[in-house]
Amino acid sequence: MTDTFAQDVLNGLTAKNKHLSSKYFYDDNGSRIFQEIMNMPEYYLTDAEFEILSMQSKQIVEALQFSQPFNIIELGAGDGLKTFKLLEYLVNNNIHFYYVPIDISQEAIDLLTTRLKERLPSIVIKPKVGDYFEILKDNKKSDYPSLLLFLGSNVGNYQEDKTIELLQLFNENMKIGDKLLVGFDLKKNPITIHNAYYDSHGITKRFNLNLLLRINRELDADFKIDDFDFYCHYNPITGDVKSYIISLRKQIVYLKKLKTSIDFEYNELIWTELSKKYSIEEIEELAKKSSFNINTNFLDCKHYFTDSLWEK
Ligand code: AVI
Repeated sequence: MTDTFAQDVLNGLTAKNKHLSSKYFYDDNGSRIFQEIMNMPEYYLTDAEFEILSMQSKQIVEALQFSQPFNIIELGAGDGLKTFKLLEYLVNNNIHFYYVPIDISQEAIDLLTTRLKERLPSIVIKPKVGDYFEILKDNKKSDYPSLLLFLGSNVGNYQEDKTIELLQLFNENMKIGDKLLVGFDLKKNPITIHNAYYDSHGITKRFNLNLLLRINRELDADFKIDDFDFYCHYNPITGDVKSYIISLRKQIVYLKKLKTSIDFEYNELIWTELSKKYSIEEIEELAKKSSFNINTNFLDCKHYFTDSLWEK
């Protein structure tokens, strides 16, 4: 079997503790549901990071201490709106830079490029579609300094060993003096975090269950969505939000394309996502382990979130 989605689903659903990766949430429908999540008032992350980039773009750009022109390389740009305020500041101040948004979705990159050109006609965009690491390899060959952006708390969706691996890979593809701006969601009142993920509108539940619909569609499976529910839990000590799908009854699901039946016990869980929250000390530790120096933590006024500027 060459299809990694099929292989990962099979491995995850036949494991002793069932799991599916949150990276598979983002089919077209899942991406749309994620937009709904980002628009919920309870999902404070979006507003907090927007505030940082709106209010502190000048300070961020000054902290770079870059000669011009420079590159801004955004990893997993999506629709790119979170970056807009930073780009707008640069354009309005006639700062010479190239914006390189990278995403695996051609559709997202096309939309982002069209929107940005409308709103900031003089911006120079060099969009790239594909895998970060393949594209990032070119960064070392660039004659210009680069700022890498890894925003939106995407880093929180990786488990600790994978997080360090990922940050080290960024480091290996950076030139001395290049900078990395990483968005971390900070530990805070656990109720605030709980409400952002266990939302009363049921949008995050839909986001999770959409993965079963994707499996039905792509692997010809027969998950009955009403027989599954969603649960998530924040552990304020570890900072982990863990999300699960629950089987509401003992049942068998058939995945035709894989010629495999999966047994579910009553109340059995499928772990779907980790959304990790950090303290400033833990961020410092992570920077050290991946060979970066922290330049500045740019925080929002409530201290819910930081865009942490690191240098190689
Ligand atoms: C994309 N990622 C940073 C989001 C998060 O907060 O972990 C995905 C998400 N899952 C549930 N709500 C939002």
